[in-house]
Amino acid sequence: MNFEKTFKTLLEESYTYGLVPRPVAIVCVKENPFTVANHTPVNKNPFIYAVAVDKENYSYNLILESDNFSVNFLPYQYLEEIHKIGKTHGNQVNKWEITKLNHQKGLSIDSLIITDSLIIYECQKLNVIDFTDHCLVFGKVVLKHYKKGYLKPSKIRYTLFHGKNLYSTHKKPKYVKI
Ligand SMILES: Cc1cc2nc3c(=O)[nH]c(=O)nc-3n(C[C@H](O)[C@H](O)[C@H](O)COP(=O)(O)O)c2cc1C
Repeated sequence: MNFEKTFKTLLEESYTYGLVPRPVAIVCVKENPFTVANHTPVNKNPFIYAVAVDKENYSYNLILESDNFSVNFLPYQYLEEIHKIGKTHGNQVNKWEITKLNHQKGLSIDSLIITDSLIIYECQKLNVIDFTDHCLVFGKVVLKHYKKGYLKPSKIRYTLFHGKNLYSTHKKPKYVKI
């Protein structure tokens, strides 16, 4: 295989987001929501979830101040709202007014949760790892909420982000028999 003909290889500093779609969530810290694509489960028991937070975001300081946050997974039908929340700053606009998403306080945390979500994680903040432009915040998932009757794999449509304002959703999932 001719590697150089097959791949375009970029140096470390020329990082681009690439085209690998990532599931999108909305994190709420205290009263403020912001959209994230860089998030992941990191431990099963206890269930620990991590989110990479840009230090330029208004939410960055809120994350440092707060001892909890929520992670909210909304279906593709809320794409416009998801995008608006990821393009506006909570110290400049009230994102609840511009999106009309339904929300309330968490059951076990004082950060808000979005009740239009399919899945909601209520997280107690564990620790924050600091990097140059982002930090990685870890939360122990103390409560999980699943919307009853909406999570059939064949029906559900999650929101996927490809970078540069491009989104999609997945097609019908397929089980693999081994
Ligand atoms: C699809 C999408 C994905 C994003 N992913 C992240 C992310 O993983 N981490 C992050 O800190 N910001 C991410 N952002 C940017 C923030 O959501 C955006 O800067 C937002 O305006 C921050 O709101 P705030 O200033 O009220 O905290 C993303 C934005 C969009 C639209």
